[in-house]
Amino acid sequence: MVHTVVGFRNKELVILEDEFRAVSDRFLLMSDDGSVGEKGLVTNALEKLILDGEAYDEVIAIGPVIMMKFVAALTKKYDQKTVVSMNPIMIDGTGMCGGCRLLVDGEVKFACVDGPDFDGHLVDYDLLMKRNAMYREHEQAHLCRLTGKEAAAVGK
Ligand code: FES
Repeated sequence: MVHTVVGFRNKELVILEDEFRAVSDRFLLMSDDGSVGEKGLVTNALEKLILDGEAYDEVIAIGPVIMMKFVAALTKKYDQKTVVSMNPIMIDGTGMCGGCRLLVDGEVKFACVDGPDFDGHLVDYDLLMKRNAMYREHEQAHLCRLTGKEAAAVGK
């Protein structure tokens, strides 16, 4: 049984809806401004599912780090195993450059060779967000290939 909760800032930014629906037994679409689906955050929808009695073998969170941070905080509260997919800046992808360095349970890990998936309850999200912001100015100079909008704006 797969329940999928996706969230976007607004209707214009929705992608892959048909694909998500095709692989989901239950699909919940959220938007920050309520222009599509239900108004709210993915954490609002997930908490409602859990409070309605759903228990999951595993919650998988993929997307902006801030969203994964709050999903993990929520699932920790309800003791739901959670896997997050880390997206730090990667350079060589071989574990040599250190660009994708993370702290997981207090240990240094490299997303490219040790991940990118980690136990969501053990990641230091604040450190990752700080590191990911290092090149924000340069990212804003490029357009996202999926949306045609500024890459940094899409990931917020
Ligand atoms: S990308 Fe260089 S260590 Fe992972």
